[in-house]
Amino acid sequence: MIETKTASIALKTEIPGPGSKAWMERRQAAVPRALGSVLPIVVAHAHGAVMEDIDGNRYLDFAGGIGALNAGHTPASVVHAVQEQAAKFLHLCFTVTAYEGYIELAEELNRRTPGDFAKKTMFANSGAEAVENAIKIARSYTRRPAIIAFEDAYHGRTLLTTSLTSKVSPYKAGFGPFMPEVYRMPYAYCYRCPYNLTYPACSVHCASKLEEMFLRHVSPDSVAAVIFEPQLGEGGFIAPPTEWFAEIARICRKHGILVIADEVQTGFGRTGAMFASERVGLVPDILCTAKSLSSGMPLSAVTGRAELMDAPGAGQLGGTFGGNPVSCSASLAALKAMDEEKVDERAMRFGRIFRSHAERWQRRFSVVGDVRGMGAMQALELVRDRTTKEPAKEETQRVLDYCHQHGLLILSAGVYGNVVRLLAPLIVTEEQIEEGLTILDAALEHVSGQRLS
Ligand SMILES: Cc1ncc(COP(=O)(O)O)c(C=O)c1O
Repeated sequence: MIETKTASIALKTEIPGPGSKAWMERRQAAVPRALGSVLPIVVAHAHGAVMEDIDGNRYLDFAGGIGALNAGHTPASVVHAVQEQAAKFLHLCFTVTAYEGYIELAEELNRRTPGDFAKKTMFANSGAEAVENAIKIARSYTRRPAIIAFEDAYHGRTLLTTSLTSKVSPYKAGFGPFMPEVYRMPYAYCYRCPYNLTYPACSVHCASKLEEMFLRHVSPDSVAAVIFEPQLGEGGFIAPPTEWFAEIARICRKHGILVIADEVQTGFGRTGAMFASERVGLVPDILCTAKSLSSGMPLSAVTGRAELMDAPGAGQLGGTFGGNPVSCSASLAALKAMDEEKVDERAMRFGRIFRSHAERWQRRFSVVGDVRGMGAMQALELVRDRTTKEPAKEETQRVLDYCHQHGLLILSAGVYGNVVRLLAPLIVTEEQIEEGLTILDAALEHVSGQRLS
């Protein structure tokens, strides 16, 4: 498949090919430019961890629909479940008449998510909508208005979630005014510690700063919830030390503030456990999921303590398509498929293989400043200078371009645009992992031009 077995990696083809190019011109004319395009190709079909475009070029997909494809492209059991449900009914609207799949899936998530207490789950269409509903529920339960979010957070593109999101360009610029009563503090970005401290000597000083928010910015009895991603996604795959979570949760409990974990990108095996919260010993009050929940069908979920979830009265939550029957059936099949494939174990194996390569890259290429992440949610932060840590944004783009031209679809991340992140489907084979990392190795060598030894 991907031509990477030899030491010198042959350029695959010109991208985009003639077929894709024609469609990209039509896309430009018909679709607003704000809808960006990482790789200007048009896909004909995709299975497992491989996509093929309409010009016949094959790509190893290490972007995985931005983390929505932990079970891979078109898992047979999910496709079958979609077909079967589509033939029964496509849509009813759960708030008009119930159907089994919604209830069964809610039970599954109540059982699977961390926390040994009664839970309830509601469904929506997107990750952003899940976060929106989580905030509404938290406010309704606590009767408090404020939310604390973190620097470099990404929670979606609706106006409320854009307010919670931290990266200005492209997500916020020109879209204000934003929702009031959102307060922000630095995340545990150890590589660029905002307090110039070093872990573990710092004793996660950044987490204890939450108490200072209550001195300078907002009264704790006005705060409904603290929301965070257990490992940042768009913000650069930053993974705080586990003690950070314990300290944040301790302070929240002390002040009656709810903990909302946004596991839209980290969920369903990605970090080496079904939920990243489990990996870091966190039991959130509310947990938001989407993406790999349903193998790419539009669906998101809010799962939380039963008493919180029941705070809004009848009719206060819902929406026409939320928990669509076809998406629920896809999700039930996807959860089963991910169990059978042991995606959490596969994520750990991916992480181990990646780290063994990345340690060599750190020795060989000065551009590799930091290597980080949990399980298969791994990333490289690229810098121009290891002392000044000047972000290597252009170099990162060139790494991506090289990978794309050689058949590996890969994404960047981070507020400086200098993080190469991996979101491969977790069903990717060991051979495919090696192939993908061989291309990334060549890309780093191509771009770095500077070997340490
Ligand atoms: C952590 C996190 N939260 C929320 C979202 C928004 O999800 P959606 O794009 O489905 O609205 C994303 C999307 O990337 C995400 O990574």
